[in-house]
Amino acid sequence: VAAQSLVVFGITGRMGQSLIRALREDSRFLLCGAVASAASSRLGQDAAAEGQPCGVTITADPSAALRPGCVAVEFSLGDAVAQHARICAQQRVPILVGTTGFDAEARSELERAAETIPVLIAPNTSIGVAVLSKLVAEATSSLGSTYDVEISEAHHRTKRDAPSGTALRLGEVIAGERGQRLSDVAAYERGGNALRSPGSIGFSVLRAGDIVGEHTVTFAAAGERLEISHRATDRITFARGALRAAGWLAGQPAGLYGMHDVLGL
Ligand SMILES: NC(=O)c1ccc[n+]([C@@H]2O[C@H](COP(=O)([O-])OP(=O)(O)OC[C@H]3O[C@@H](n4cnc5c(N)ncnc54)[C@H](OP(=O)(O)O)[C@@H]3O)[C@@H](O)[C@H]2O)c1
Repeated sequence: VAAQSLVVFGITGRMGQSLIRALREDSRFLLCGAVASAASSRLGQDAAAEGQPCGVTITADPSAALRPGCVAVEFSLGDAVAQHARICAQQRVPILVGTTGFDAEARSELERAAETIPVLIAPNTSIGVAVLSKLVAEATSSLGSTYDVEISEAHHRTKRDAPSGTALRLGEVIAGERGQRLSDVAAYERGGNALRSPGSIGFSVLRAGDIVGEHTVTFAAAGERLEISHRATDRITFARGALRAAGWLAGQPAGLYGMHDVLGL
């Protein structure tokens, strides 16, 4: 069986380089294109910053990097997502969007692209978080609406968006189970007069050091507290999940998908 070719947007970043590590251990996938920003200091260099070169040169031109039959794997910046989705749709290349922190306009662009190509929106590609999400949905429906729900997350000091895409996705899952819209019940800021409003979903964010990614959902009522947590200790877990998801995406018809579709959860 021929290996599945991948083009990585954001190759010079933490996730881009973790994907290279994951690719080295999995012969079912092959890097065929590596894209960084036009301002990148690594343009023209080999995609692998460490270890053996992988024979793919970094370019700032996404159109030139894409090939028929490849899957695009997006781990760059929220601001680049809309453009990358448009280019993938034009060139009929499926796209996995691991990037978080993109705006509503980019979301619409992804929905438009999904009319032409398979689009996977995966703010967290670890298998553990997909299961966390399912457990959180079950807990929400079993506990009912009298429990207070709070979502806390922790990441490294250079993460740009807050709360994390994963925390927001967990909030959407909980609000959906309760028949609410997250935007109506989310409490992102608490300071000064911060009495908890009933039915709200609170978010708290920690940014420090080199934390890879941690999420806890707390359900609390008078007399008890249930906490469901996931801790990532190495980005390789996101990278392995992304490869699995990219392999799955290559065989799908046009449409919008999530990690639960990949894993059949
Ligand atoms: N889905 C998941 O499981 C998961 C896991 C971890 C992180 N993430 C998300 O993935 C994204 C990347 O995270 P990270 O930690 O790898 O960030 P990072 O280390 O800052 O890497 C992002 C890279 O994107 C490149 N870039 C910027 N603009 C670009 C453009 N227009 N085209 C192509 N490349 C561009 C930058 O490289 P140059 O300056 O060299 O261009 C940068 O090195 C974030 O949104 C993060 O939240 C998702």
